[in-house]
Amino acid sequence: MDTQKVTVSDIRNAKNNRKLTMLTAYDYPLASLIDRAGIDMILVGDSVANVVLGLESTTQVGMHEMLHHAKAASRAVKNALVIGDMPYESYQVNPHESVKNAQRFIDEAKCDAVKLEWFDQCLEVTKEIIKAGISVMGHIGLTPQTADKLGGFKVQGKDAEAAQRLIKQALDLEKLGCFSLVLECVPDKIAEIITKKLKIPTIGIGAGAGCDGQVLVSYDMLGLFERFTPRFVKKYVNLSEQILNAVKTYKQEVVSGAFPAKEHTFSIKEEELEKLKGEKNG
Ligand code: KIV
Repeated sequence: MDTQKVTVSDIRNAKNNRKLTMLTAYDYPLASLIDRAGIDMILVGDSVANVVLGLESTTQVGMHEMLHHAKAASRAVKNALVIGDMPYESYQVNPHESVKNAQRFIDEAKCDAVKLEWFDQCLEVTKEIIKAGISVMGHIGLTPQTADKLGGFKVQGKDAEAAQRLIKQALDLEKLGCFSLVLECVPDKIAEIITKKLKIPTIGIGAGAGCDGQVLVSYDMLGLFERFTPRFVKKYVNLSEQILNAVKTYKQEVVSGAFPAKEHTFSIKEEELEKLKGEKNG
């Protein structure tokens, strides 16, 4: 297996050459498996709020939680490009702190790049972070941190005017120097138009097959998140069911005495046991 570390240049150069793959990871074991499977990019997404921490909104996680998870994931990764997802408070509430916060993903969590969702001051903030020498992945379309301003969790760019706005956002982010762009919940034809207009790769989630690559939330595609499943998710395995069955079997075996068996047990030499019994110490 190729053990070369994926770089931002590799991601840029993949455009029109091969499809790119990205999945989210939030901890050491999953990041390690995803990396060993040869996925190009691992996103330590703020979706950790929903799928790991049981919160309602991604706006409920901050730098503390994101750095904690990013450190664990990047410790496991040898090859993939690791991208830290900047939490809402770190650049939307606090634009003046955004460069410092982006730098913490690189210095403390050893990420290779950061991702920012589109918002009103997106261009100013992105420009400053790139100026500081940090690689940025953009994110347009449905941006969960500001979904309330977009009318909820809905497909974006469904009329000509809205699609035109998305195209402009994409071109502006490319011009600033973003190395790649996530397109979330965008009609496939609009994603295709954006993909063709850009020189940087687009990574789609609910944006059809015309993007340069695809991303999914790992807990969705592994069947580990049961609260809801968006239409664009394909479940490749149902781990919830498998884990539930394994835990039920464990319970049964402990109750019945079938576990632990001989092979899970440590022994002591018979003579040592006899010696112990011979001693008058109990
Ligand atoms: O946080 C996340 O998981 C994301 C992906 C949906 C792209 O931003």
